[in-house]
Amino acid sequence: MKVLILGSGGREHALAWKISQSPLLTSLFVAPGNAGTAQLGTNVELSVTDFPAIKSFVLEHDIEMVVVGPEAPLVAGIYDYFIADRELKKIPLIGPSKLGASLEGSKKFANEFMVRHNIPTARYKNITLDTYQEGVEYLKTMEPPYVLKADGLAAGKGVLLLDSLKEAEQELKVMLEGKFGDASANVVIEEFLPGIELSVFVLTDGISYLIFPEAKDYKRIGEGDTGLNTGGMGAISPVPFADKIFLRKVEEKIVKPTVAGLNKENIDYKGFLYVGLMNVLGNPYVVEYNVRMGDPEGEAVLPRIKSDLLDLFMAVSRKKLRKKSLEIDARTVSTVMLVSKGYPGAYEKGKEINGLEDPGKSVIFHAGTKLTDGRVVTNGGRVLSVTAFGEDMTEALARTYKTAERIQFEGKNYRRDIGYDL
Ligand code: AMP
Ligand code: GLY
Repeated sequence: MKVLILGSGGREHALAWKISQSPLLTSLFVAPGNAGTAQLGTNVELSVTDFPAIKSFVLEHDIEMVVVGPEAPLVAGIYDYFIADRELKKIPLIGPSKLGASLEGSKKFANEFMVRHNIPTARYKNITLDTYQEGVEYLKTMEPPYVLKADGLAAGKGVLLLDSLKEAEQELKVMLEGKFGDASANVVIEEFLPGIELSVFVLTDGISYLIFPEAKDYKRIGEGDTGLNTGGMGAISPVPFADKIFLRKVEEKIVKPTVAGLNKENIDYKGFLYVGLMNVLGNPYVVEYNVRMGDPEGEAVLPRIKSDLLDLFMAVSRKKLRKKSLEIDARTVSTVMLVSKGYPGAYEKGKEINGLEDPGKSVIFHAGTKLTDGRVVTNGGRVLSVTAFGEDMTEALARTYKTAERIQFEGKNYRRDIGYDL
């Protein structure tokens, strides 16, 4: 089977690495890919949101499956584009329809979906510029910290947690007036959920589902969870506090009603669903849905899957996932992101990376890297995701950090405390 993966991050390298292990694979293309995916298949210079260019490539190269890594093409409707096209509709695409992708693309849609299907989440209200005053009154009924969320995609920056009412009222106005462009024309005010976060990953064909291992990621740039939010600085799977009882609650109260809700509302959904959860005194609440695998969670979760991922994707595309089961490696995986100096703010690119030849007991997933004249250089804020297995978290982290230290590039930065709170 000829497969095209869309995306260029650590998640896509991990997907490429996992799919490469499948006996069903005959050739692999990654668009646009990075220096890591280039070792597993052919990188293709294509934008993930240029659907006509993707169509030409898919038809010219007889691609038999497209796996979508990031959310942008999904929210822009790549699934619907394929379904509506006479030549493309037979080619399986792993990812939800545009409406399904609204679970990530619109906080308002996600909250209303959860209310319709009785899925536990924070109390909330949608506000627009016209109803600003209502928003102010609503904020007064809440306790700090105040949670304001831009409705649309805002590159992971659209959620504000504010300590004072005055600040919250002001920020609400600034958001509605275009702080995040159109993405914050609607703002969701949410009740703050106190607890510890984790994420659960689901693969679904829209009818049945398989629950992939859970993971915890570390979003802040600084140690001790301080400083600015990033795309994610590291991840651990499994999560020790997610015991059987908690995970059963997640399945019964969240995963089952979510998949049943998609089915009931005739929302086509063939792909990953990422459920961001807060564990509030042992009970799970949804903080966010994403319509894809996480990054860097994917670099910790996918290595734990022993089953053939391509075989599972085929079952998803045929709506036969109920016939499949998942074999999971019981060991712990940790992954740590090596990032460019300055990230998540401005950073430089093009720094030569050394020390990749000998990963030791780790797997190095590339994120922001590219090949220039045969050398691997930095090409993004998040550069590499160093992953290792261990019998427990301590062993996995020791292996990860040993490799992380050996890799060299100018301005290398990483958190040395991944897993500190577990
Ligand atoms: P989101 O983009 O929705 O994942 O939000 C970003 C981060 O804000 C989450 O990972 C949480 O740490 C935090 N957050 C979002 N919503 C809430 C909430 N209702 N209560 C507490 N923390 C939240
Ligand atoms: N690491 C967070 C995400 O993938 O959304």
